[in-house]
Amino acid sequence: MNRTLVIVKPDAVERGLVGEILGRLERKGLRLVAAQLRHLDPDIARRHYAEHVGREYFEALVAFITRSPVVVAVVEGPDDTWRLVRQLMGATNPVDASPGTIRGDLAVVMAENLIHGSDSPDAARREIGIFFPELA
Ligand code: TYD
Ligand code: MG
Repeated sequence: MNRTLVIVKPDAVERGLVGEILGRLERKGLRLVAAQLRHLDPDIARRHYAEHVGREYFEALVAFITRSPVVVAVVEGPDDTWRLVRQLMGATNPVDASPGTIRGDLAVVMAENLIHGSDSPDAARREIGIFFPELA
């Protein structure tokens, strides 16, 4: 799988960090093949985050990701592009994210960690299918 799904989350759009975040992916050498500013509704948010249903943070996560527009994007690169994006993102909790990563440089709390990236080839396929069925 050489494509992966990225969501530039509401906190990032609100803070004016869309260019910074997508720019980092582009400068790395990845190519944008789709991008759309979109206000997610709870149904699609729940589908996207289905693996987290039942966790104590789930409802807060859905409320966060639907509170204002996001940029949903598909990026393309070599094999394991999903892994390249995850490296650029940094750890889920910004406290653990290394300096030099998006979360390590630009975020302070897990609930507002700026970016989503698919975490496996199967997840990339599934998530691209949710947001860009025409690319599936
Ligand atoms: P997860 O898929 O584990 O992290 P990642 O975004 O790095 O793939 O979790 C999805 C999102 O859920 C995460 O970005 C932030 C939120 N979250 C919490 O708010 N609290 C938590 O304890 C966890 C694990 C995640
Ligand atoms: Mg995840």
